[in-house]
Parts: sequence; structure tokens; C-alpha cells
Amino acid sequence: MTPTNHQDFEHDLLTALSQTRKHISPKYFYDVTGSSLFDQICELPEYYPTRTELSILKVHAADMAQHMGPKAELIELGAGSLTKVRYLLREMDAPISFLPMDISGAHLNAAVDDLSLEFPQLKINPIVADYTQNWLLPTPLQGAARRIAFFPGSTIGNFSPNEVQEFFANCVAYLPGGALLLGVDLLKEPRVIHQAYNDAQGVTAAFNLNLLARANRELKTNFVLDQFSHWAFYNAPLHRIEMHLVSLKKQEVHLADQVFVLEEGETLHTENSHKFSIDGIQKLALSQGLEVGPVWTDPQRWFGLLWFDIPEQAHSNDPPFIRSKT
Ligand code: AVJ
Repeated sequence: MTPTNHQDFEHDLLTALSQTRKHISPKYFYDVTGSSLFDQICELPEYYPTRTELSILKVHAADMAQHMGPKAELIELGAGSLTKVRYLLREMDAPISFLPMDISGAHLNAAVDDLSLEFPQLKINPIVADYTQNWLLPTPLQGAARRIAFFPGSTIGNFSPNEVQEFFANCVAYLPGGALLLGVDLLKEPRVIHQAYNDAQGVTAAFNLNLLARANRELKTNFVLDQFSHWAFYNAPLHRIEMHLVSLKKQEVHLADQVFVLEEGETLHTENSHKFSIDGIQKLALSQGLEVGPVWTDPQRWFGLLWFDIPEQAHSNDPPFIRSKT
């Protein structure tokens, strides 16, 4: 159950290169190098989402923990470096366990080692999985009151509107009687958004280009990185940042014994990062049966943490928990 194995990456990159409009999932950014570049992005002066979300957590974590209630099982999706969840864990009343889920195993395990130093009593059960494919959740522990999913960082912004609906449907299927605490980047002045993905130090460019470097390392492609450039722009009507890698000249790429030609100016579309209105995202959640709860935001309303309750609502089938191998 390696989450993004070699074959998936090769398959998806082959598919991308075979198409006239070439696009690949942003999940492939996150090898060890990419995960650490992402951590650097979070520290950039231009990249407001992380700082803003942390400021909301600092002020409101106690209130959020109140909503979770005692003895909750906290699941974090796309856990990364486990910085944000600390604010919740410090305020929660006797959490039964913490299940951080991430696609990048090495990065996650290092973060978990660090977290257990601060919370020696806490049961931490890291899950290396791709939650866009499969929620590999173990059965709830004895005594767990409810399961709360924490999905911060506006990672949901990577999903298409359809995938957002699927995500909410998964919450209903996997977390009956539970809740979701969701971080979303809100609509704002496009210039602010644009700068967050076009930082002066070029870290976002390096993060984007690392996709090609990773392909060279893992798939033995021959991308010449300085023949590509980072391109990120705000697509206002679609409410999203688009990131692309632009081919600066006509060039050949070799992958799995095939040769692909990239024309000058052709792009590989690497990421969409959607921005939301509070009302818009709540409507999508409601449409899948979630119940709207409180919203915590910053004074500028740049970022929101939204609470949703998930009804108990017994489905006709057994709950789709998949037992993890222990
Ligand atoms: C992790 C998907 C929330 O969209 O802002 C940051 C990724 N890409 N800079 C985002 C990202 C370029 C980030 N998410």
C-alpha cells in the first residue's frame, strides 16, 4: 500500500504527456524534497494562508476543541509537518488518539516522532495513504466518542468542484456521527493571491519545477529544468490559481521508452488551487448531507476554518472501515 508508487507516477505522467492539454495531479509534488520546499513556502512573507490559518487557530483552538468534546479521535488529512494540529491537541479534552494521514511517508514519520515528544501520552497512529484514493482508517478505538477529521491548509482547494462533493460524500460515509474541521482559503483581492504563488525568492517556482526533477530521479526522464519556467496566475472566473510549467523551447522528453515532443510555449498544468466563499463551500457540504456549524476567520476574512457535523444516519451497508495491518 505504497501511496504514490512508481507505477502511478509513471502512468499519470505518461497520460499527461500523451495529451494535447497536459495536466498532472499536484499530489506528485510531495516527495521528500517537495514536502520540504512546501514547508519553506509556508514561511514566505507572500504566502499568507499558513500564517493566517495559524493565527485563527491560536485565537480559537479552545472553542474548536469544545466542539469536539471529550475522548475524540482526531484524524488529520494531508498531515504534513503537524504544526497546526498542535494547537488543537493542546486544548482537546482527553483525546483518545490522533491519526495523521499523509501521502509522504518519510516526512510524516519524522513529524510524528517530533509530535510524540510534545504529547508523550497521546496515542498516535500515522497512516501513509492517499486520501484522494482511499481512506484507510482503522476501526475506532474502544471508548472513542467521535471521530473528527481536520483538513487544514485549504488543501481542498486542489480538488475540482466534483471532487469536493466526493470528498464531502466520503466524510458522510466514513465518519458517521463525527465532524469535519475544514480550512479554506477565501476569495480576496486577486493581487494578494497572485503574489502568494509568485514569491520573490522563487521558492514556489522551485516547488513547481521539483516535479520535473522528481520525474528525472524516479522515472529516469530527461527534463532539463532550465528549459521550463514556473507560471502561476489567478483565473478569476474559475476562482483558482493555476500553476503550470511552460516549455521554453521545442524539446523532446523520454519516458518509458517513448519520446514526447513539447512545443515552445506548451504547458504542463501542475496545480489548481481554488479559493472559496464561505457560503459556496457550505452549500457544497449541505448538498452531500453535512450540517453547517460555526465558522472561525481572521479580521481580514482571508481564511476560514469551518465546522461541519456529520449525521449519524445509518447507511444500508456496513461502515466502510478498512482495518489497518498492525
Ligand atoms: C497545499 C494545496 C494548499 O494551493 O496553496 C502552495 C499548495 N502550491 N504554493 C496551495 C501550494 C503552491 C497549497 N496547498
